[in-house]
Amino acid sequence: MILPMKKVLVIGATGQIGSELTMELRRIYGGANVVAGYVKGAEPKGVLRETGPMELADVTDAEAIADVVKKHQIDAIYNLAALLSVVAENKPKLAWKIGIDGLWNVLEVARELGCAVFTPSSIGSFGASTPHIMTPQDTVQRPRTMYGVTKVTTELLSDYYFLKYGVDTRSVRFPGIISNVTPPGGGTTDYAVDIYYSAVRGEQFVCPIKAGTYMDMMYMPDALKAAIELMEADPASLIHRNGFNVTAMSFEPEQIYAEIRKSMPDFKMIYEVDPLKQSIADSWPDSLDDSCARQEWGWQPQYDLQKMTVDMLDKLKARLIK
Ligand code: SER
Repeated sequence: MILPMKKVLVIGATGQIGSELTMELRRIYGGANVVAGYVKGAEPKGVLRETGPMELADVTDAEAIADVVKKHQIDAIYNLAALLSVVAENKPKLAWKIGIDGLWNVLEVARELGCAVFTPSSIGSFGASTPHIMTPQDTVQRPRTMYGVTKVTTELLSDYYFLKYGVDTRSVRFPGIISNVTPPGGGTTDYAVDIYYSAVRGEQFVCPIKAGTYMDMMYMPDALKAAIELMEADPASLIHRNGFNVTAMSFEPEQIYAEIRKSMPDFKMIYEVDPLKQSIADSWPDSLDDSCARQEWGWQPQYDLQKMTVDMLDKLKARLIK
């Protein structure tokens, strides 16, 4: 697919998703056309710094965001600034400030300067009263975590700006994202990343989530594909906008453990359940129905648990074992 030229700003470019999304967008649109937006203390390093422009773009500073958008004539913003679920539960006010006051700033800039906006929602936008098996696209969303409250609000505010002002807002409800470049910080699904690092380092893994707890997950290449393909989709085919259920796999701790042991039979896992993480995990879906994303913009993941595990272990071994 040949994509039209775009000028893109990634807010949160040094985070778990941002660090890889920025590089993928630069591969597609050219390095000079994708600005890595960062906050003080999280400056881009290495390839992220060398392959394109970078700008201080704190989501809580509306003027700074507007300045960057004007300076680089940005037409699409990937707004990835957020605290993950466990951190947000411990810092609810900051989670709101970054997630919602920040989103408001981005949407206002987008309205004034004519940008499209992608802001991720999450499986965290669902709660205990949501049907847990094959969770439908349109269903009950009454989360009791601050992370969930900000994600539902993100969906509503993004839809509002589209309906009221015509701002081209789009989003997906990401499941747990598994990656081998930048580690996630303080999410409920992080165990499914940490387990691979323990395996490759030859350490026993202490699992904070109970056996039998299913959650949706996705390998980073699929997450990047979801974000970019949705932003490139023909608007005429979109019935939904903020946000689409997307998933690639659903598993519980014993299944990922068994998958790793196929190639590392000596690897050991024990359980030490974290009550906060467990209560959050219990309130989230076991499996999402993502048929609307498949129908409306052709969503199709490439990685299942087996294929992801092979790639994760290969990449981490190459990097961590010298
Ligand atoms: N990975 C996120 C979290 O655990 C879920 O969207 O907070």
